[in-house]
Amino acid sequence: MKVITIDGPASSGKGTVARVIAERLGFHYLESGAIYRALGLWVHKNQVGDTPDVSRLLELIDSMRLEFRGGNVWLNSEDVTTLLREEFVGMLASKYSAIGEVRARLLQFQRDFAIAPGLVTDGRDMGSVVFPNADLKVFLTASAEKRAERRCKQLQQFDKSVTIGAILQDITVRDEQDSKRSVAPLSYDSSFRVLDNSELGVDETIDLILGWWSKLELDK
Ligand code: DC
Repeated sequence: MKVITIDGPASSGKGTVARVIAERLGFHYLESGAIYRALGLWVHKNQVGDTPDVSRLLELIDSMRLEFRGGNVWLNSEDVTTLLREEFVGMLASKYSAIGEVRARLLQFQRDFAIAPGLVTDGRDMGSVVFPNADLKVFLTASAEKRAERRCKQLQQFDKSVTIGAILQDITVRDEQDSKRSVAPLSYDSSFRVLDNSELGVDETIDLILGWWSKLELDK
């Protein structure tokens, strides 16, 4: 089974890049962040308070029916694709994903996406924990300022009142939470290829990664 993982901080562009690479290679695509976002939203919808205990969280995970169909995400029969992109949902995802038992409960669900002919997946720990033996592991990053700028442009299409200062603040908080947590923190080691795309466009980033992939395939 061929697996490419693309991990990186919030708004590094990993989702767009991973989706296009999956399309080009004819592989399946898994956005693991959507799973944690769906959990954040599900906890919120169930009104169990801001800090439910772990056993309640695990029950909520077990009652989640999550489906990825045609580029959309369905949570217990509701199309939540747009809702999942909300900032508050990202913050909740970051909070609950820091809990080891939550991550353990979601591990097999993620691994089951690795089916023929191959998988491209993005997240925080796809190369370090979920698919440590992936064929190609990329750590995609960019400066916090660049990432805030990109996210701001995206959000301003829908909401003109969004400010770059507020986004930069959110990104900084999430970077801190995601990389300092004790379980599966955002990190990489020498088995990853690190790509800082602060000065690169999406197409250049995609071409670089596809170039690495072709070379790996040729060298086999
Ligand atoms: O990639 P994203 O911004 O949609 O992810 C939302 C949150 O989910 C992120 O702040 C941390 C968490 N997450 C995680 O812990 N592990 C992953 N593999 C993907 C996301």
